[in-house]
Amino acid sequence: MKRVALLGATGSIGRQAIEIIEAHPRLELCAAASSSTSLDDVDAPLKQVGGDLIELLERAQPDVVLNAVVGFAGIHATLWTLERGIDLALANKESLVAAGDLALAAQARGGGRILPVDSEHSALYQCLQGSAREQVASLVLTGSGGPFRGRTRDELGSVTPDEALAHPTWRMGRKITIDSATLANKGLELIEAHFLFAVPYEQIEVVIQPTSIVHSLVRFRDGAALAHLGYPDMRVPISYALTFPERAATPVPPLDLTSLTLQFEAPDVETFPMLRLAREAGETGGTAPCVFNAANEVAVSAFLENRLAFLGIAEVVEAALTWSEATPARDLDDLLEADRNARVLADERLAVA
Ligand SMILES: NC(=O)c1ccc[n+]([C@@H]2O[C@H](COP(=O)([O-])OP(=O)(O)OC[C@H]3O[C@@H](n4cnc5c(N)ncnc54)[C@H](OP(=O)(O)O)[C@@H]3O)[C@@H](O)[C@H]2O)c1
Repeated sequence: MKRVALLGATGSIGRQAIEIIEAHPRLELCAAASSSTSLDDVDAPLKQVGGDLIELLERAQPDVVLNAVVGFAGIHATLWTLERGIDLALANKESLVAAGDLALAAQARGGGRILPVDSEHSALYQCLQGSAREQVASLVLTGSGGPFRGRTRDELGSVTPDEALAHPTWRMGRKITIDSATLANKGLELIEAHFLFAVPYEQIEVVIQPTSIVHSLVRFRDGAALAHLGYPDMRVPISYALTFPERAATPVPPLDLTSLTLQFEAPDVETFPMLRLAREAGETGGTAPCVFNAANEVAVSAFLENRLAFLGIAEVVEAALTWSEATPARDLDDLLEADRNARVLADERLAVA
């Protein structure tokens, strides 16, 4: 039996993970956590609503931690898991973005694996199986472009949270859905890919594929490109991460190839500056990705509460990045401080927005 601790059990990923675990005879849910939503309908020996995730993990002693918490709040669990050499099925991209170097150092000490749950990174992980790093020319992250693909900045001035929450291809939690509309999500994924696969930023491309059938590609030095295709259904990458290398069956139907037309286009980074800001923060390194993430979390909350316009999200993040000085992230305290300061700066920018 593989004992799974599921953090964020009431969320979009969490619910789908429970379905995968319940359907698999050798996966056992040993612990489940949420922030405030009841876990009464979840069948697990250890359950915790709110409180310290590390205490729960210490008691659960899992074989794999599925970190499906949203936001920077997932950072302690990511580092705890990697430090102990326990496999980490990672949906909580924000923790790897904020703490990339520390997480990789913890993983090197612990010796466990990071099994990506993000569909793009799961795709890349699969396309990279069996290949040496020097054979890889570049990674190509795909994105749907979100609900506002093709719009101009003028047309985005007055869009509402409800419009931004209407994602064309994926059903997800609110925060990641807004991130998809601003392209911040693709920016977070760019930084996540850099850390997961040890590929420099200049070798990571982003391309829009509006129907989310192509989940990402790897270009190799011989001119070949391997792509991962499938319907947009998170149960596939969740199952892959939890059952690797078994690749267990899922209820997802086979692709109907004759019904597909695949289009690709370049992302519009002028209209959606969050992708550019993420790339710059990633290239700056140190605490900059942590600042990008923290300011984005503040701005997205403000947008969802109708305290900030859609285009204001990037303005708040850009201000926080400009006003804060990127410093090396030597330990968790450095990151906690960078996160705290970035939230203060974002709030100050919000006050004049
Ligand atoms: N949804 C997707 O399809 C998808 C795809 C790729 C990657 N991801 C990533 O997966 C993560 C989760 O996304 P989601 O869409 O599933 O989010 P979501 O639906 O908003 O769910 C978030 C989950 O995290 C829990 N949570 C938040 N803060 C917590 C804390 N401090 N302690 C314990 N639990 C906490 C929430 O509990 P409550 O219910 O009590 O608030 C909820 O169970 C995000 O990092 C996202 O970027 C999601």
